[in-house]
Amino acid sequence: MEILQRPDEMQQWVRGQRRSGACIGLVPTMGFFHDGHLSLMRLAAQHADTVVVSLFVNPTQFAPNEDLDRYPRDFERDMLMLRREQVAAVFAPTPELMYPPGFQTEVRVQHLTKYLCGRTRPHHFAGVTTVVTKLFNIVQPDVAVFGEKDYQQLAIIRRFVTDLNLPIRIIGGPIVREDDGLAMSSRNANLDRSHRASALSLSTGIGLARDLYRQGERKAMTIATAVQRHILSFPHTSIDYVSLIDSRNLDPVEQVDVHTMLALAVHIDGKVRLIDNGLLVPIKKEE
Ligand code: PAF
Repeated sequence: MEILQRPDEMQQWVRGQRRSGACIGLVPTMGFFHDGHLSLMRLAAQHADTVVVSLFVNPTQFAPNEDLDRYPRDFERDMLMLRREQVAAVFAPTPELMYPPGFQTEVRVQHLTKYLCGRTRPHHFAGVTTVVTKLFNIVQPDVAVFGEKDYQQLAIIRRFVTDLNLPIRIIGGPIVREDDGLAMSSRNANLDRSHRASALSLSTGIGLARDLYRQGERKAMTIATAVQRHILSFPHTSIDYVSLIDSRNLDPVEQVDVHTMLALAVHIDGKVRLIDNGLLVPIKKEE
């Protein structure tokens, strides 16, 4: 497995792969891998001959009051985990290599970025779309795989890839959960035992919304209020949003149906912000 740091080295390596006719798959990550990341790498390997993983904790998608410094990192552990996967190369640049002095360009999606996570993190998605554009230009993948836990991010990436005519197929990988339902996230490493118990309010909140739907409830407001009460009944929780949206375009809905998704963002102890989502009528294996 190649470990490359400089954008020009990465571009050169990938040019060599392309010359031999390989289809390139990219999995962009911020590291501190868990089974969710590994599932994205395995999905990429199903769609590409050569899998490249990027590992970069992108500072421009964090606001000054957010957890950039506390974001879990362990490069050696990550490399050990990658060596067991079908990953041909890792692109792990430094912030200085990605944003050299004089850098001043931004890629921004207008509408989709204003709601859900974009309401309380107004600069977050411009940071994401700008860094992902750079990663696409550096790695030049045919296929790129992103997790569905960041459902809004995935929708925004699909949008700019279409809008900018980028010849890259975007694939979403299903959420991977712990046995008790907690969606896997690198940030879970920052939860102590009691905070982790409170983090279960998200997945059980999705379960509650599904139960209400099964019992015939169709008013979004009633389901959202029940889920909010449920989350706040756990200690240490505060809600960023509990939203019922149309999974096809992220628009908020008043009446729920089979396309409705519950999207959640919850702060645990004011320090760890977790997101999760689920369709009210889940695809079979997720239930
Ligand atoms: O989802 C993430 O880990 C990040 O937002 C991404 C896509 C790697 C961009 O920094």
